[in-house]
Amino acid sequence: MASSITILAAILVLSHTCQAYTKFPDGFTFGVATAAHQIEGAWDVNGKSENVWDHLTHTKPWMVADFTNGDIACDSYNRYQEDVDELDYLGVDFYRFSLSWSRILPTGRIDQINPDGIRYYNDLLDALAAKNIEPLVTLFHWDLPQSLQDLGGWANPKMVDYFRGYADVCFREFGDKIKSWITFNEPYEICEDAYGDEKKAPAIDSHGVGNYLCSDTLLKAHAEAYHLYDETYRPTQNGKIMISINSIWYEPKDPENAQQVTLAETANQFKFGWFAHPIFTDKGGYPEVMVANVAAQSEGEGLARSRLEQFDDYWIERIKGTSDFLGINHYTTFLVTGPGVDPTAKSPSWLKDIGAVTTMEVGGDSASEWLRVVPSGFANLLRWCKKSYNDPLIYITENGFSDRGTLEDYGRISYYNDYLSAILDVINDDDVKVLGYTAWTLMDNFEWRAGFSERFGFYYVNITDPARPRTPKLSAEYYKQLIANRELPQDDKFKAPSARRQ
Ligand code: NOJ
Repeated sequence: MASSITILAAILVLSHTCQAYTKFPDGFTFGVATAAHQIEGAWDVNGKSENVWDHLTHTKPWMVADFTNGDIACDSYNRYQEDVDELDYLGVDFYRFSLSWSRILPTGRIDQINPDGIRYYNDLLDALAAKNIEPLVTLFHWDLPQSLQDLGGWANPKMVDYFRGYADVCFREFGDKIKSWITFNEPYEICEDAYGDEKKAPAIDSHGVGNYLCSDTLLKAHAEAYHLYDETYRPTQNGKIMISINSIWYEPKDPENAQQVTLAETANQFKFGWFAHPIFTDKGGYPEVMVANVAAQSEGEGLARSRLEQFDDYWIERIKGTSDFLGINHYTTFLVTGPGVDPTAKSPSWLKDIGAVTTMEVGGDSASEWLRVVPSGFANLLRWCKKSYNDPLIYITENGFSDRGTLEDYGRISYYNDYLSAILDVINDDDVKVLGYTAWTLMDNFEWRAGFSERFGFYYVNITDPARPRTPKLSAEYYKQLIANRELPQDDKFKAPSARRQ
């Protein structure tokens, strides 16, 4: 009996192994991503003004783990041709990068357009075109001009107009060369980490208040940029425009525990739904559970109105449907253990408003405290997005793994392999419509408050050398082979020696 069970188990394992999908569908595209402040440097060169990250790192250098900053970063302002050569070597279909608002509009407003900013991005776009690499361009990847922060930043409702003006300049100047746009990168990080906490610049830490003022402005600004593109530029430029929403996927620690299941759904609505629900559902507006929880908490705090203001009918309609694709940045999964207030939660705060306690005790680790390796969570997030948002067309606009900087980066390769395998599973088994994948990131770069202490790149960058030499890691070879064959590489050399076949 025991032996027949063993044989059955072996057959099951074997059939599962054989079933694993390795081949990507026709038309599936691959790229890598970077962001202006993380790579460009040249922070005050040729007319660029200070942004919130310049300001934070110059005035409070201790807020970055290794006291580095973006003053030079990877020096891509001067070395963009090297970036393009590396992209060409990898064989990517597209390159996702962001525009620096304060390089293009030094006052943040449209009264002054910096010719050098326009020149720089045109040079980069031309260099990409010469190698047949499609640009996927983010308008806002966290580097707000400090002059606009001085007026309140994303907590200021006027930012809707300023962002629309900036987007208008970018569509007009670069729209003939760019067919794919992203308005905002990771709105959650912008609103919660920068206005509700001090994890990101400008580190306002107005927990439970500033974060919700920010989301109100940001979603309206996104919608205005979308409509501007759709009505004024799309007819001649024929491009697409989307938003990239980030997730930590929340799962119940015990899937049999109904309360944990409900709370995990609440946490996902607070995290992903906060920005996805207003845009990607038929109903629009913030998720019901979010509206209800913040209202109840606010009442308990003796407030006459909820800290989370709801959109009126005009804005609900104006925001709904304003993304041609669902852009997803995904890295990790947390577990929900039960109801209550997370021990790290401030009062009031987004975290307290959720009302769930979570743990990161899941999966393997990385160099980033928040990044646990849980490929199955990615598959679950994608299935949930299909169900929750009317089966959208999805681009993975970021996914990646951090270490401390090694050329034989088996941990990164294994992460990519397993997360890409999860994508193949949901494409094939669940008909989730994932059209493309973006790895974070081309080269080690300024990882915000972690500085250069956490490295995500395919290329190692030596930041003690003024020439910022870049050296391909083993993961660069892995990604190159994957793209060339449109198939997960099976080669033993990509496995850690301990995991190789004997
Ligand atoms: C998300 C952000 O968009 C990017 O700027 C950051 O470096 C990576 N995740 C890794 O943390």
